[in-house]
Amino acid sequence: MQPQADLAIIGGSGLYALMDGLTGHKIDTPYGEPSDQIMITELGGRRVAFLPRHGRDHRHPPHLIPYRANLWALRSIGVRQILAPCAVGGLRPEHGPGSFVVPDQLVDRTSGRTQTFYDRGAVHVPFADPYCPAGRDTVLRTARKQGIAAHDGGTMVVVEGPRFSTRAESRWYADLGGTVINMTGHPEAVLARELALCYTAVALVTDYDAGVETGHGVVQEDVFRVFAENIATLRDLLLRTVAALPQERSCACPRSLDGIVLPIDLP
Ligand code: ADE
Repeated sequence: MQPQADLAIIGGSGLYALMDGLTGHKIDTPYGEPSDQIMITELGGRRVAFLPRHGRDHRHPPHLIPYRANLWALRSIGVRQILAPCAVGGLRPEHGPGSFVVPDQLVDRTSGRTQTFYDRGAVHVPFADPYCPAGRDTVLRTARKQGIAAHDGGTMVVVEGPRFSTRAESRWYADLGGTVINMTGHPEAVLARELALCYTAVALVTDYDAGVETGHGVVQEDVFRVFAENIATLRDLLLRTVAALPQERSCACPRSLDGIVLPIDLP
């Protein structure tokens, strides 16, 4: 029987070690296999799916994550709301390592990633506001109750990677108005929108990227260490958000495809 969930967390591998009672399901899609098995459990009265974005063994680098398969697989098991925690670099002095940002904007600086399900027909989804307002609001309210200082809004610059940015690039992204920077936020967000899903990024700042400080610049070791140091807080925030997120979707996300003739059947 096909597993069922209505909400998903796409997140870092470290989160799963902290969850109990997960059963894994292998889901196939027209776009190949997702990053890993999808694990499903019951939390706060909801059926919640977990998908490790990079795979449990971190086998998929950011530029080769099977983003389309991930989103398609989640929709095919009933998921309509997604929480997307991610590690980011801070582009501003006020967003230092260990802080949380709930972005409201995105700038795509990736290249060569497939970023649509629709290679035929006229399908142009609205993307002015890339993140679900209800999801953002719930994360922020939950953080406040938990005593976590999560910053409301900001622009996430998504770079191709897998290398980190130069100091000049980093300063340029900050001058452009970027708040935080990462390598996985796109095309995940737009593919969710193309399937009329609610998608909320929850960014944990792990470093100052290369532009804010004159120090050694960002290194992978720092990113992994700071993520690990804050994973318990992130996990707590996500679990409480799951319980608080209204299942009824009153935002515009479910209507993203209204009036559009789709060239494919959605799962
Ligand atoms: N992920 C975490 N920190 C990052 C950085 N500085 N640049 C790109 N992706 C990141």
